[in-house]
Amino acid sequence: MNKITLTADGSNTLYNENIGEHYHSKHGAVQESKHVFIAAGLEHAISSFPGQQQISILEVGFGTGLNFLMTAAYADLSGVSIEYTSLEAFPLRSEELESTGYEQYVSGAIWKGMLNNYGKAMQQVTAVLPEQKLRIVHTYLQRYETAQLFDLLYYDAFSVQHQPEMWSDEIIAHACTFLKPGGIFVTYAITGKLKRALKAVGFTIEKLPGAPGKREMLRATKSQI
Ligand SMILES: C[S@@+](CC[C@H](N)C(=O)[O-])C[C@H]1O[C@@H](n2cnc3c(N)ncnc32)[C@H](O)[C@@H]1O
Repeated sequence: MNKITLTADGSNTLYNENIGEHYHSKHGAVQESKHVFIAAGLEHAISSFPGQQQISILEVGFGTGLNFLMTAAYADLSGVSIEYTSLEAFPLRSEELESTGYEQYVSGAIWKGMLNNYGKAMQQVTAVLPEQKLRIVHTYLQRYETAQLFDLLYYDAFSVQHQPEMWSDEIIAHACTFLKPGGIFVTYAITGKLKRALKAVGFTIEKLPGAPGKREMLRATKSQI
């Protein structure tokens, strides 16, 4: 069982002993998720694709499901539907998801919807809420293939210090093939190497203020052609 740790904003995270890293920022798990993936990712995607009723999201690293919960809650309030596909090589047990206490940040329907559908979502697309669809693909990003093109990519791998293979130019280029032209890539990290890897596959880079504890984060937009 991965160990629960309290982060600075009062929300919990888990510590992964094999990797030697927490699943979220110690400066605030919920705060980081909202700052990086919701404000810089989902909100930006909603305004970038006006009139689009549904936003399709690909996440690298489902982990505890925190980004999914925050996304479903935000989308539900904004009246946007989401189709959320998340890749996870090492799925946590549902008791571990439950132990995070994240139910206090979302409605009961979203929390129960995620927990009750966790196993099922690994087999098929599941409606956590009628307009909030989840699919968890139990695979390594390196092996993932699909013909689907997504609006938004949440790149939430463990850090380059702990999982450098998740930040190689090749794996970044591979992940980016799943975005549609004009699609948006967001991540909590920013390095010169990552910026160069994204520029090399036709992305425009934006440096944004990072979540507390990080000076900057990165958002990138795929070229339209
Ligand atoms: C920083 S955590 C993600 C946190 C998560 N987004 C959340 O909201 O809790 C990184 C995740 O990537 C997963 N992972 C590690 N290697 C992977 C790979 N090659 N392909 C897909 N997922 C991977 C880990 O098991 C872990 O759950």
